[in-house]
Amino acid sequence: MSGTLISGGTVVTADGSSRADVLVDGETIVLIGRDLKATGISPDEKIDATGKYVIPGAIDVHTHMELPFGGTFAKDTFETGTRAAAFGGTTTIVDFAVQSRGKSLREGLDAWHAKAEGNAVTDYGFHMIMSDVNDATLVEMDRLVEEGVPDFKLFTAYPGVFFSDDAAVFRAMERTRENGGLIMMHAENGPAIDIVAAEYAEAGKTDPYYHGVVRYPIFEGEATNRVIRLAEAAGVPVYIVHLSARDALNEVRAARDRGAMAFAETCPQYLFLSLDDLGNGFEGAKFVCSPPLRPKDHQDELWSGLRKDDLQVVSTDHCPFDFKGQKDLGRGDFRKVPNGLPGVEDRVDLLHDGAVVGGRLTRERWVDVISTAPARMFGLYPKKGAVAIGSDADLVVYDPNRKRTISAKTHHMNVDYSCYEGRTVQGASDVVLSRGSVVVRDGQT
Ligand code: URP
Ligand code: ZN
Ligand code: ZN
Repeated sequence: MSGTLISGGTVVTADGSSRADVLVDGETIVLIGRDLKATGISPDEKIDATGKYVIPGAIDVHTHMELPFGGTFAKDTFETGTRAAAFGGTTTIVDFAVQSRGKSLREGLDAWHAKAEGNAVTDYGFHMIMSDVNDATLVEMDRLVEEGVPDFKLFTAYPGVFFSDDAAVFRAMERTRENGGLIMMHAENGPAIDIVAAEYAEAGKTDPYYHGVVRYPIFEGEATNRVIRLAEAAGVPVYIVHLSARDALNEVRAARDRGAMAFAETCPQYLFLSLDDLGNGFEGAKFVCSPPLRPKDHQDELWSGLRKDDLQVVSTDHCPFDFKGQKDLGRGDFRKVPNGLPGVEDRVDLLHDGAVVGGRLTRERWVDVISTAPARMFGLYPKKGAVAIGSDADLVVYDPNRKRTISAKTHHMNVDYSCYEGRTVQGASDVVLSRGSVVVRDGQT
């Protein structure tokens, strides 16, 4: 067994901050305290964290490595995507295995295991995208819950691809009441969006900007209300993914106020980018994702949602497509631009800069939304998401003062652009440990 002593730092967790040293033995945190002498274990590695934070490794519960979408595939593999994640202080991802229409959940899950196995730099797990809800896949759900894949994403968006109607959503929800799984919902009214999108395209409004116009915030609000109501009727919790609009947040807030088990995440793109980024001709394709970027005035509401715990988690929905060769499949028709943005590497620093330095969240709440809350929501806590004795030694020595400028020239994600090109952020990961092994130090793996 090898040991590591991280000394002199400020341990920041969701519960509080204090000056403490952290001793790691093998893959596990074994001691936390002041001026540790490390009796019993002689650390062969000492990391000086003076002036730095020591935080639990961040957890991104919404990524799409190699997702097939719009006739192409998300560009990051588990190798490139998790390496980029590690550079950004993320030590666990939970990706989405996909059940293809007509195939079994098992086939989808096996395919995603094959993509990941032996290739990932960090720990990883899976949620399951369910494209068909029928007698066979409902039985399969039970098996997956038993083997530790208990979360199922369904979509009220993307008709003809991942879309499920209300009956399918409700059936899947009822099943989770029996098997203990959790339904995650992409909540936009896909059929209504397709009508508006066709009207715009027929009128010659084909630029990426219109992707952001036709997917009305009210379509997200309506679908969010509908799926929460269905979950209430089924008597189960529901988790809304990538919430972007004030209209949807209001529905989550109202549901929680009446005691419903409604939970939600948002993503950095909805906190830092806006509909304006979709302008500028076809360059806007770089910012095409669903739900789309919203007018700027939605952002303050999302920050307030994070402060008041109506939003519990910030994940990335990392789903990168090159601008050249992939996004440009949609030249002349915004409906054909592959949906998704790169982000797995930048979430922790963007949030530190915008939330902690920007005075919108405390540093403890920052740790909560990027690590502890996702760990709790998806059954990883306290093995992950905590700096505690017995927890996995997924640790980040974080410099809250170092500034860096985000750029596609220096990022590690396998994609030819950055949504945040040229933005300087304050805060960066110095050393990243994944289950006790140093995976990043001073910008090197
Ligand atoms: O635009 C997005 N969000 N692409 C990834 C697929 C999804 O809906 O999460
Ligand atoms: Zn989605
Ligand atoms: Zn997604």
